[in-house]
Amino acid sequence: MPVQKIVIGRDKADLKDFGLQGTAFIGKHVVGEGDEAHLTNAVQLDVSRPHIVLVCGKRGTGKSYSGGIVAEEIALLPTEVRNNLSVLLFDTMGIYWSMKHANTKEAGALRDWGLVPKGLPIRLLVPKGYVAAYQEAGVEVDGVLSLPVADLTALDWILTFGFSPIDDFGIVIERVIKKVQSRVPRYGIEDIIYEIQADKTTDPRTKDALVNRFLAAIEWGIFEKAGTPVTGLFRPGGITVIDVSHFLSVSEGWSVKSMLVGMLTRKIFQERLMARKAEEFEVMTGERKKTIPMVWVMIDEAHEFLPSHGKTAASEPLLTLVRQGREPGISLLLITQRPNKLHEAALSQADIVVAHRLTSRADLEALRGIMQTYLFEDIQEYINSLPRVKGAAIVLDDNSERIYPIQVRPRLTWHAGGSPSALKKKGIFDE
Ligand SMILES: Nc1ncnc2c1ncn2[C@@H]1O[C@H](COP(=O)(O)OP(=O)(O)OP(=O)(O)O)[C@@H](O)[C@H]1O
Ligand SMILES: [Mg+2]
Repeated sequence: MPVQKIVIGRDKADLKDFGLQGTAFIGKHVVGEGDEAHLTNAVQLDVSRPHIVLVCGKRGTGKSYSGGIVAEEIALLPTEVRNNLSVLLFDTMGIYWSMKHANTKEAGALRDWGLVPKGLPIRLLVPKGYVAAYQEAGVEVDGVLSLPVADLTALDWILTFGFSPIDDFGIVIERVIKKVQSRVPRYGIEDIIYEIQADKTTDPRTKDALVNRFLAAIEWGIFEKAGTPVTGLFRPGGITVIDVSHFLSVSEGWSVKSMLVGMLTRKIFQERLMARKAEEFEVMTGERKKTIPMVWVMIDEAHEFLPSHGKTAASEPLLTLVRQGREPGISLLLITQRPNKLHEAALSQADIVVAHRLTSRADLEALRGIMQTYLFEDIQEYINSLPRVKGAAIVLDDNSERIYPIQVRPRLTWHAGGSPSALKKKGIFDE
C-alpha cells in the first residue's frame, strides 16, 4: 500500500498537477496520546506558492528550530524548483549561522528518521560594523550588509528614534530630510547633521538632541551612502541569513532592527513587483528578462516588528507584504512566542499555523481567530494532547480547514539555539 502523505497548504488542483513536487517534509503526523502516541504519515508543506505561515509556541518549544526546517527543505528542493525560490532569514538571535554545519549532535535522532546530518551553503550577511566581532568568535561571514541612507524616509528615522511625526523632533526631522534630499541626491548621515545644524528655526537644545541621535546612528555600523543593492540579497535557490542580533547591545536595539527589516522588506516588495511583470512578459513573449526569484521572508520574534499595538519602522512594509504579498510571490514565515501580541492583520491572513505548546488563553484565542471553524476548546484540547517533547506541534491548515498534531523532524543542519547549560555533555564540547 502506498504511504499516504499529508500535504498542507496545497489545493486540489495543484495536488493533481504537481503531486508532492515543491513541498517540504516538515515532520510526521502524531497519532494517539501520551504513551500511546506514535508517528505515522509524513507531513509535507507547500512552499511553491505564496503563504503566510505563523510558527508559535512558548519559550523553548521548538519555534526557531521549525523555522530552520522550512529553510532547509527549500535549500534541498530539486534545482529546477529551488531556483525559482529564495529565502531571506532575519536572524534576531544570531542562531542561524550554524546551518552551514551538519547536525552531528543529533545524528542518532536523524538516523531514526532515515536522515543524515548535512551542512548547507547558506550565506551569512552581517552589518558592516560587526564583522570583526564575528570573525573574533570564529564565525565565517560571507558578506557585509549596509543600507543606503537616502533610502530611509523621514518617518523611518522618526519611528526608529522613538519620536512621533507630530512632536517637535518629528517635525524637524521631516523638514531637514526634505531639505537634504533636495540638496544632495545620495546623502549620508553627515549631510543630515549638517542640515540640522544649519536649520534656523530650531532651538539649540532640540538641535543638540537630534544631532546626538544621528551621531549614535553612525555607530550602528549599517549606513553607507551607496549600501548593498537589494537584488544582491537573492540568489536563486539560496538562503541568505541576515544577522541583526548585535543591535541588542545598542539602546534602540529593537527599533534599529525594525528599521532594517522595514527597509529591506519594502525593497523586496518593489523588486518582486517588477519581477512579476518580467515573468508575465516572458509568458507572453517567450523573452526572458533577469529577475529575482520568489521570496520566503522568515522573521523570528515577529511580534517585535509587527506588534498588535503601536507601530515600528517595519510595521507598514510588513503589513504591505501581509496584505499584498501574494501577487508578487512573497511568502512570510513569522515566528512568535505570543501570537496575541502580533498584529491582527498578520493573524487573519495566516493560512498555515504551526503551533507548538501554548498555554495562555489570550494566545490560544488568537489562534482561534485564524481558524474560526474550530472551537476554542478544540484547539486547546489538540495542544494539550500533544506529546511533551520538543518539536511537537499542531498544524492548522486553512486550505483544508484541518488540524494535525505533528512531530517536527530533526534538523539536518546544526541548530545553535538551544538553552545553554552549566553542565557540559561529554563529547559535544570536549573535543
Ligand atoms: N523538532 C525537534 N526535534 C528535536 N529537538 C528539537 C526540535 N525542536 C526543538 N528541539 C530542541 O529544543 C530546543 C529549543 O528549540 P528552539 O530554539 O527552536 O526554541 P524556541 O521555541 O525558538 O525558543 P525561544 O522562544 O526561547 O526562542 C532546541 O535547541 C532543540 O534542542
Ligand atoms: Mg527561538
